[in-house]
Amino acid sequence: MPLDSSPIPDELKGLRIALLVAGGIAAYKIVDLASALTQAGADVRVAMTASATRFVGAASFQGVTGNPVLTGLWAADGPAEPHVFLGDWAQVTLLAPATANIISRVARGQSDDIVTATLLASRGPVVVAPAMNDAMWSKAPVQENLSTLRGRGVTVVEPESGHLASGHVGAGRLPGAAALMDALASAVRSRYDLAGRCVVVTAGGTREPIDPVRFVGNYSSGKMGFAVAAAAADRGARVTLVTTAMHPAHPGIDVRPVETADEMLEELKREIAGADVLVMAAAVADFRPARVADNKIRREETPRLSLDLEQVPDLVAALGKEKDAQKVFRVGFAAEGSDLAAKALEKMKKKGLQAIVANDISRKDIAFGSDHNAGVMLFADGTREDLPRMTKREMADRILDLVRPRLNS
Ligand code: CTP
Repeated sequence: MPLDSSPIPDELKGLRIALLVAGGIAAYKIVDLASALTQAGADVRVAMTASATRFVGAASFQGVTGNPVLTGLWAADGPAEPHVFLGDWAQVTLLAPATANIISRVARGQSDDIVTATLLASRGPVVVAPAMNDAMWSKAPVQENLSTLRGRGVTVVEPESGHLASGHVGAGRLPGAAALMDALASAVRSRYDLAGRCVVVTAGGTREPIDPVRFVGNYSSGKMGFAVAAAAADRGARVTLVTTAMHPAHPGIDVRPVETADEMLEELKREIAGADVLVMAAAVADFRPARVADNKIRREETPRLSLDLEQVPDLVAALGKEKDAQKVFRVGFAAEGSDLAAKALEKMKKKGLQAIVANDISRKDIAFGSDHNAGVMLFADGTREDLPRMTKREMADRILDLVRPRLNS
């Protein structure tokens, strides 16, 4: 907990936060903030100017965050372009303490050190917390530079008045951890509508073994589930993707590889506690071999092979009965060839879902493996939303747009 032991806003939990530290005496307070954010579950990375390292050692930040600290543009053992790496990685960036010097350099768009370069390379919202002597704070160039930053969409946290390191009393103190976290939380809230939410997604077709080398499976590519996971992560959610498929790496997605329906159910039972949304995009095999051969079935010895298949349990229906799932908004997918809406509605009710997305698998322009999808989304509250043909990523965002206002606050 921070020194003033204020609760940490939910939005910051699980978020990737860059703390950029400039050379001011208040730099030591950022160690405490970094520690509190890390303990609350945020992933925190720190970059420091050379002057900042005179006030606080990089080892302190590395120790409390568990992540390497960037102290220059030419890190010997880090990424080739550390500022681009950190700018891409961070969902929100805090510059604190922001000295008069660094504020001026940021306002001019300089990028000749790791802190200013990371700010230029950042993609998420930026919060700047100035701290300096009261006379410096009152000067026109400082205030003009801050106006410039505000005009560019940067959030500026007003310094507090009080005792300053110089012995003067006046405005210029770095606000406490609570105020800095509140500023970060509101910057995050306005940009990421799923910040603080936990979304579990399934993707791909399950594979049920026949013997050690063969399985019963289906054509599902896992692209729709991945699109939902990526969209939720980009909107600030903590995402777990339980999947049988291979996917591109994506920041903010925790991938849990599985093969069979049983493995998927086990993983889901673990992940469902604390989740806000479950999106069941996986094509779960409906049937599996009743017996699995211990050894490879040999062609020579097997002129003819019949498989005895048994039904796979309905995962999402089974999960719905778990106590932990009651608060989770559960979305299913239904692949249908005809009577799309009517069949999907029936499935939604039978499986105890809050919503279902029905795809028309008879359409050639949205076949398995396609980057496009189309269908209709039905809600247990009776709402029906048509989803015309669009990319799977667009559909994923549309689905989240529709789910977001239905989540408990
Ligand atoms: N599903 C599941 N467990 C299963 C089968 C399906 O959890 N054993 C989920 C899917 O992930 C999807 C939804 O249920 O979200 C509907 O899947 P679908 O294959 O359309 O329906 P089925 O229940 O398999 O019904 P049918 O085969 O009769 O169409």
